[in-house]
Parts: sequence; C-alpha cells; structure tokens
Amino acid sequence: MTEAMLRVDQAGEFGATRIYAGQLAVMGDRAPYAAEIAAMAVQEARHRAKFDALMAKRGVRPTALQPLWSAAGFALGAGCALIGPEAAMACTAAIEEEIDRHYTEQLDELDGSDPELEGLITEFRADEREHRATALAAGAERAPGYVLLSGAIRFGCRAAIALSKRI
Ligand SMILES: [Fe+2]
Ligand SMILES: [Fe+2]
Repeated sequence: MTEAMLRVDQAGEFGATRIYAGQLAVMGDRAPYAAEIAAMAVQEARHRAKFDALMAKRGVRPTALQPLWSAAGFALGAGCALIGPEAAMACTAAIEEEIDRHYTEQLDELDGSDPELEGLITEFRADEREHRATALAAGAERAPGYVLLSGAIRFGCRAAIALSKRI
C-alpha cells in the first residue's frame, strides 16, 4: 500500500515540475509572477528528488504513465500560461487544492505507520498550501472562466491521481 502511495506522489511531484516548466516556457522570466513561479518550481524539483530517492531506497518502480504526465503536465502549464498569467495561477491554485486534499487523505490513512514517508508528505503539503496561497494572492480567481477552468483542472488532477495509483 505504501508503495502505491509513493508511486502516485512521485508522479504528482514530477507532473508539477512539468506544469511549471510549461508555464515558464511560455511566460519567460520577465512576465508578471515569473519569479514566484520559478521559486515554486524549485520546490517542486526538490519534492520530486526526495520521492525519487525514497523510491530508489525502497525499490519502488515509478508509474508507467510518466511519459504521459510529462507531456500532459507541460501542455497544461503552457496552455494556461498562454491564456494569461492569471490563468497560470488558476492552474496552480486548482492543482494545489487537490494535492493538499490528496496528501491529507494519505496522512490519515498512514496514521503513523510510516514516519519517513509521512515526514516528507507533511513537509511538502505545507509547501503546496503556500503555493496555493501565492497563486490566489496573484489573482488566480481573476482568470477568465475561472470556475470552469478550475473545475476542469481539478477533475483532471483527480483522474491522474486515480490512474497513477493503478498503473
Ligand atoms: Fe510539490
Ligand atoms: Fe506545489
């Protein structure tokens, strides 16, 4: 069970690095909030590296869907950034809301049985909550079609989590 959790978490953090890479590819480093996005991207890379290391240590294989998440994450990040900086932030806020919920569910389920994994999840969840706050403060809710956009991204995120648990 813990293996599947680690697998889906690593897939998520990997996907996050690809979303931010897509956003930055479109926005460049001078756009509004480019510095904030770059700072969040650094944290996602660290989250991913920590899960990579724990997977290697425990001999857990990554999801077979990694190439799909790579392309889908990049396309999502780039697509939102093409709409505008606020849509890029709406994307981040939506994703982080789902990740916060997902990590909280995992912590409830683990309930002290895997302190090493729970330590990472707790630490990363705090970062993700900050990312969500940053995105909302940067005007995520002012994005055109915010409700629809946010709903679609959150649905996609939940689907990605469900798939990565199984494949
Ligand atoms: Fe993360
Ligand atoms: Fe994040």
